[in-house]
Amino acid sequence: MGISVGLVGLGSFGSAFAPLFKSHPLVDRIGLCDMEADRVARYAESPFFRDKFRPQDAYTSLQQMCAADFDALVIITQPWLHAPQCVQAMEAGKHVYSAVPIISIPDDEETLGWIDKLVETSRRTGLFYMLGETTVYRPQTMFCRRQAAAGGFGDFVYAEGEYCHDVDAQCNLRQVASSRTSNKAGRNHAAEVGKYTARGCKGGPMHYPTHSTSGPVNVMRAHATRVTAYGYANATGDPFFRNSAFSNEVALFQMSNGATVRIAETRESPGQLGGESETFRIMGTRGTFSENRFFSIQRPADPANLEALPSPSRQTLDVADMRDPLPADVTQAFKRAMHQDVDETDLQNIDFNPRGHGGSHPYLVHEFVEAVAQERQPLINIWEAARYMVMGIRAHQSALQDGERLEVPDWGDPPR
Ligand SMILES: NC(=O)c1ccc[n+]([C@@H]2O[C@H](COP(=O)([O-])OP(=O)(O)OC[C@H]3O[C@@H](n4cnc5c(N)ncnc54)[C@H](O)[C@@H]3O)[C@@H](O)[C@H]2O)c1
Repeated sequence: MGISVGLVGLGSFGSAFAPLFKSHPLVDRIGLCDMEADRVARYAESPFFRDKFRPQDAYTSLQQMCAADFDALVIITQPWLHAPQCVQAMEAGKHVYSAVPIISIPDDEETLGWIDKLVETSRRTGLFYMLGETTVYRPQTMFCRRQAAAGGFGDFVYAEGEYCHDVDAQCNLRQVASSRTSNKAGRNHAAEVGKYTARGCKGGPMHYPTHSTSGPVNVMRAHATRVTAYGYANATGDPFFRNSAFSNEVALFQMSNGATVRIAETRESPGQLGGESETFRIMGTRGTFSENRFFSIQRPADPANLEALPSPSRQTLDVADMRDPLPADVTQAFKRAMHQDVDETDLQNIDFNPRGHGGSHPYLVHEFVEAVAQERQPLINIWEAARYMVMGIRAHQSALQDGERLEVPDWGDPPR
């Protein structure tokens, strides 16, 4: 028997996930919810949704979703709403999936309080929380995870991660902010942010840190212990940054495994440093990963023996080499979701080409659905997600104190 899932938030990002959750073979029934009723209504009219979406499973409030009998809720609402909504869902007995970040608000201590509350709620209720961090299911991360598990990196030495998204890039952050604050759920946001600013709390890009921090943390299975960070403050009076202390922030972390990690979060700097705007690179004593290349070395047992020279190698990988496989029935179902108008014969001739943030979307859906169905912690559980998030929060606090070196708290590993 499969599970039932309710998706809350059918804006631009949630609508990309609705067909994938609906299609997963382990999902028997889907509910859809948005405060904007027309965003739900379009699915009621879609033949593609008819087999799993019943008219009585259309909702316009999270409260109604919590009262209904779904096994799990998927929260893809505005970023400042996630944490309280996820706590509400778990208190109502639902497993929960959250879009990133855990929460994005200007007050660092309040954010740390929400992380603590989510950890406590997941532990006490035994319900699973998963953060939908796309970087964790990019092909590069999957490849590095396998290499790390096989010991291919040796001891980790250094990693760098970044999320470079200029405010005026093609996905324009002014338009995104305007769209998220123009619907019912977002209308009060400016007033709420004003209250934080009035008591001296100012934001920065490190309040949305999970795209850059998750790669190194997830691959190395390590957490940050100390941080020193600096910020660049917008100098042109750009209104987009009026409630932000910085438009760009860079941090250096000491990690629990002895490695050093550099994280950059930039919003006022065009282009990107690496091959992707959200990416990471990792160096170990025996292997280094960068973009789509893996460099490794077999050192001789006796390094002083000049007769037995080391053998370095360089592997150039394509995306298909880097990805993990998905089960055949899941691949087939997702292909159908991605090509709804194609007939069955033609569908067999189409290759599965995962889409959305490096093809991560189908993998995120599969991981959450399978974890709930198998009653196991998802890979990006709240203990793991806390490690990505707290790096940004403590980095921002350090930058506000002109690079003061700060300790980074850790909530440990999930209960077995
Ligand atoms: N790479 C990534 O992981 C990535 C990329 C894009 C967006 N996101 C995240 O996805 C989230 C959604 O972004 P978006 O652009 O789709 O926002 P959006 O404003 O377009 O959509 C949010 C929707 O949630 C609904 N909503 C909010 N509270 C609700 C409630 N209590 N009950 C019912 N509906 C409610 C709103 O009505 C709205 O339709 C954001 O948090 C963002 O951070 C992540």
